[in-house]
Amino acid sequence: MDAQGGNMTGDTRAALLAALALQAEWGADEALLETPADHAAAPPRRRDMPAAAPRTIAPSATSLPPAPPGGDQNADQNSDPGADPSAATTLAALRDALERFDHCALKRTATQLVFADGAADARIMFIGEAPGAEEDRIGRPFVGPAGQLLDRMMESIGLDRGKVRIVNVVPWRPPGNRTPSDTEISQCLPFLHRHIALVRPARLVLLGAVAVRALIGGKDGITRLRGKWREIEIPGMEGGLRVLPTYHPAFLLRQPDAKRLAWTDLLELRRECVESCA
Ligand code: URA
Repeated sequence: MDAQGGNMTGDTRAALLAALALQAEWGADEALLETPADHAAAPPRRRDMPAAAPRTIAPSATSLPPAPPGGDQNADQNSDPGADPSAATTLAALRDALERFDHCALKRTATQLVFADGAADARIMFIGEAPGAEEDRIGRPFVGPAGQLLDRMMESIGLDRGKVRIVNVVPWRPPGNRTPSDTEISQCLPFLHRHIALVRPARLVLLGAVAVRALIGGKDGITRLRGKWREIEIPGMEGGLRVLPTYHPAFLLRQPDAKRLAWTDLLELRRECVESCA
């Protein structure tokens, strides 16, 4: 076949079109790889070129930035000081900093930033994973099928979007709804920390494994951690913050049997704080 597919037979063309139609039916909507490419990595060395001297790469570009008490250190991720989350003293400034932040590749494939929903001074904050297709189109978190289930879950214990804050670990939709990579999570984490510190909620609800990995870390997964309160430290906030991991609503849509356990987690949230925190 030449570069334009000039000598492609009718059968080959039909087979390729059928494969493309199947991928579209299964939800592929980006001509991208499943695994994110690390464009910061050194290119492969040609065999006829001498090896370059080793280069020191600033760790914050590709790994979790250290978060000492009092602020996140991600300033070297972006030379634009306006994109430094620790400098944001209001939610509007934080949103503006994210709009300027060009260090996360997800921004390039997403339609728009999905910043947050709900009350700026909420006592309870729900943290999801990443925007999906609907959220990316509309610009609000949890508006698709998982969001509708989240609305019903909140309603069942007397909460609604006006009373809580809803954000995601990463604010841009990963292509094809894949799970955000550790690099993407670590690049966006200082913004999430700052968001939490600015809202100053009394409790966090971590929806699913990615929120747990980003904010608790460690080896234990959501199945082991769900339904139990624990305390985490958030840079810029004094004292520990109580967090409750539970299943992600998208998981509950796929595994309705798990709704029984999620319901006990909601009751626990209501028992601990809906009356006193909301
Ligand atoms: N899933 C998430 O984690 N967040 C959204 O905003 C939507 C679906």
